[in-house]
Amino acid sequence: MTPEQCQMLVAAAAGARRFARAPYSKFRVGAALLARSGKVYAGANIESASYGLTCCAERVALFKALSEGETAFVAIAVVARLRGGPMPCGACRQLLAEYAPDALLLVADTKALKNVRKFTISALLPEPFGKFR
Ligand code: THU
Repeated sequence: MTPEQCQMLVAAAAGARRFARAPYSKFRVGAALLARSGKVYAGANIESASYGLTCCAERVALFKALSEGETAFVAIAVVARLRGGPMPCGACRQLLAEYAPDALLLVADTKALKNVRKFTISALLPEPFGKFR
């Protein structure tokens, strides 16, 4: 992906953060997933009073895209106010490994959106649980 595409996706993730529903943690996360179709699917973390039902920004974006028929992905950007940017949790890594294995992960701190760290999904989760039959 081009540096312009990378900055566009990070900016979309930063914008998506405004819709986070994070009254419990106060930690607002935005994600933006670029599909091969060229469409961008944004997501933000949605927390529940029953804490365990919380859904991360990454999964919200991924489920939106999958449920609209997308099957292949180029990259996902994740942004929060955290030095170095937020690294996806284990659950999100598993789902990304299953549905977006070739996507590039871009993470950035809201305070330094130009400072983007890039990872492959396989580096994040080298041995994902996979097909069992
Ligand atoms: N969270 C995300 O949305 N993405 C991450 O990569 C890490 C954590 C959310 C879940 C919860 O709403 C809050 O951040 C604190 O864990």
